Amino acid sequence: MNSELSVDHLLGIKYLTKGDIELIFKTADHFKEVINRPIKKVPSLRDITIANLFFENSTRTRLSFELAEKRLSADIINFSAASSSVNKGETLIDTVNNILSMKVDMVVMRHPNPGAGIFLSKHVKASIINAGDGAHEHPTQALLDSYSIREKLGEVKGKKVVIVGDILHSRVALSNIFALKLQGATVKVCGPKTLLPKHIESLGVTIEPNLIKALEWCDVANMLRVQNERMEINYFPSTREYVKQYGLTRKILDNLNKEIVIMHPGPINRGVEITSDVADSEHAIILDQVQNGVAVRMAVIYLLASKIKQ
Ligand code: NCD
Repeated sequence: MNSELSVDHLLGIKYLTKGDIELIFKTADHFKEVINRPIKKVPSLRDITIANLFFENSTRTRLSFELAEKRLSADIINFSAASSSVNKGETLIDTVNNILSMKVDMVVMRHPNPGAGIFLSKHVKASIINAGDGAHEHPTQALLDSYSIREKLGEVKGKKVVIVGDILHSRVALSNIFALKLQGATVKVCGPKTLLPKHIESLGVTIEPNLIKALEWCDVANMLRVQNERMEINYFPSTREYVKQYGLTRKILDNLNKEIVIMHPGPINRGVEITSDVADSEHAIILDQVQNGVAVRMAVIYLLASKIKQ
């Protein structure tokens, strides 16, 4: 395992090594123990200032990052596009350089444009964490997903994972595919043909169009939300038909010949990709994912910050 990350920014899982992921998980194990203590805070990042820049809506990711930063005792400033000068025509670099001139060390950014974080990392002096760039990558989500599989099943290596739903518009899907493959899992994708990218198999995954077959095969099913906000046309006839073919119900789960682990990155559309009785069942680890998100983000921030100080 590495003693430090091989990267100065977390822009995507694509840029990480297997050793990086192992280091992040080992560090997250420590922080998970910390956040379960009566005093949930450590002074590690007392001298670090982090800007959370959210140019796109977010609830759990923004809160999770903010909590992770607070638990590490970092100073933080928050910015959301709706209330900013971006609406007055300011460029991304100008906006961020203005913020950095107030002595900010790290930027956590969510942005609707794929590659926004990569672009920024080349133009500003700060460590950048990608909190979701359009339909491209969402690296901390994939890390917390793999961390949750590791916690539940012992390891990720050798596990069979199916990612179900809107793969085409999902940054969670792409980052998960990179992360799972890197750790030696086998990955299938399942969803309407129109919601699968054309060359998805070149990423080393296979397509299983039938939900029941996919579930019979897998150890873990990661159920994704249909990203209606990223669609300009209709990709399937109606929500009712989507639910009929790709919605996971208690009946389907009970009829399987095995027990599987159910994951979801949130926000859940109850009754669409997953019914309430599945989301709230003993098979689902959705709230563990949320809890692990804080520990994993603490690990990422801590490891990147230790590179800044050198
Ligand atoms: C995901 C996202 O924003 O990409 N959610 C999240 O980060 N918790 C998935 C989604 O919006 O469906």
